[in-house]
Amino acid sequence: MHVGAKETVVGKRALITGITGQDGTYLAELLTSKGYTVYGLIRGQNNPRKSMVEKICPTIQFVEGDLADQSSLINALEATTPDEVYNLGAISFVGLSFKQALLTGEITGLGPLRVLEAIRMVNKNIRYYQASSSEMFGKVRETPQTELTPFHPRSPYGVAKVYGHYITVNYRESYGIFAASGILFNHESPRRGLEFVTRKITNTVAKIKLGVADSLALGNLDAQRDWGYAKDYVDAMYRMLQAEQPDDFVIATGETHSVREFLEAAFSYVDLDWQQYVKTDPQFLRPAEVDTLIGDATKARTTLDWKPTVSFTELVHMMVNNDLELVKQEIAIAQTAPVS
Ligand code: NAP
Ligand code: GDD
Repeated sequence: MHVGAKETVVGKRALITGITGQDGTYLAELLTSKGYTVYGLIRGQNNPRKSMVEKICPTIQFVEGDLADQSSLINALEATTPDEVYNLGAISFVGLSFKQALLTGEITGLGPLRVLEAIRMVNKNIRYYQASSSEMFGKVRETPQTELTPFHPRSPYGVAKVYGHYITVNYRESYGIFAASGILFNHESPRRGLEFVTRKITNTVAKIKLGVADSLALGNLDAQRDWGYAKDYVDAMYRMLQAEQPDDFVIATGETHSVREFLEAAFSYVDLDWQQYVKTDPQFLRPAEVDTLIGDATKARTTLDWKPTVSFTELVHMMVNNDLELVKQEIAIAQTAPVS
């Protein structure tokens, strides 16, 4: 359903950019369960992921707009009159950001500024959430990373996120807008895009186990990440906008694991030895790498009463189980499809 002329609204209203992404659908479900009317900013003339969002969250209402287009964002705020805006839209894949650096700056960096400008012009009482990232820490200056750790981004994506973070702080300080920045460490789920390493691994593990793939090509296996569960992390976003004061919060599990450990956990869960299937391929290496991330979420725990609920092993198993089911369905569909 697209936004209509008039409707009766009882609870709060939230607008989510990046509604078709991993976090967008989890956040839409959470806010809907809390009685919000949820609007999703949708871009393009026929976004192929819109029906997936409608299936997950049938009550969602869509409003057209693009983070590259200032007037579409102003129109979206005027049409939906939200109490809260969650800016999750971005070019979010670090690998792509090296190949499309200008576009990444435009969407991931300047996108937040355009949303904040729209808030400043339309209604300064709208609360704003900015999806900042542990990628901003990059070549880390201290371990674990906190809200006070200096940034040293290592990719065009990381640099753009640093801009998005500081412009959020600036609009909070300059105009009194309730603008919060969540510095979220990597978070994954069965809804994670296939381009990211965790889902690439669990999806290929399922294909190998079910006999429709025989190898997995990856880049740097030594990289270490603090991986949490996306559903826990969208809850932190919500809590940030309910707080008394707008602030910056690190959201993380406080544990780090290497890509190699993720491989071991995913393959061994289906009784396979990862070393027999994994190849390294230089095309998946990055011009500059973030070696190790590990976050300290003490501030979120004490101020927002937030904590992660899913362990690393539970997360890996959840994702492998989901991909086993998905690949079984794909195989069944392929077997029943008519031969053309
Ligand atoms: P995702 O699955 O890659 O989703 C990205 C979303 O951005 C998609 O809905 C995409 O919509 C939208 N988008 C791209 N270009 C746009 C544009 N020009 N205008 C409007 N929307 C646009 O990302 P995610 O994992 O859900 O992450 C959500 C946010 O958190 C992102 O900003 C990401 O950078 C940040 N973040 C993520 C993590 C993590 O580990 N997942 C950690 C820290 C921060 P289309 O369908 O139109 O392409
Ligand atoms: N994607 C991918 N594909 N990564 C690989 C591969 C591969 O084949 N092989 C090794 N890696 C390594 C990457 O080099 C990186 O060090 C690590 O696996 C994780 O890569 P991604 O899953 O692509 O995530 P990311 O850490 O670069 O970025 C994600 O987390 C950020 C938060 O720290 C994204 O979700 C960003 O949007 C987010 O901000």
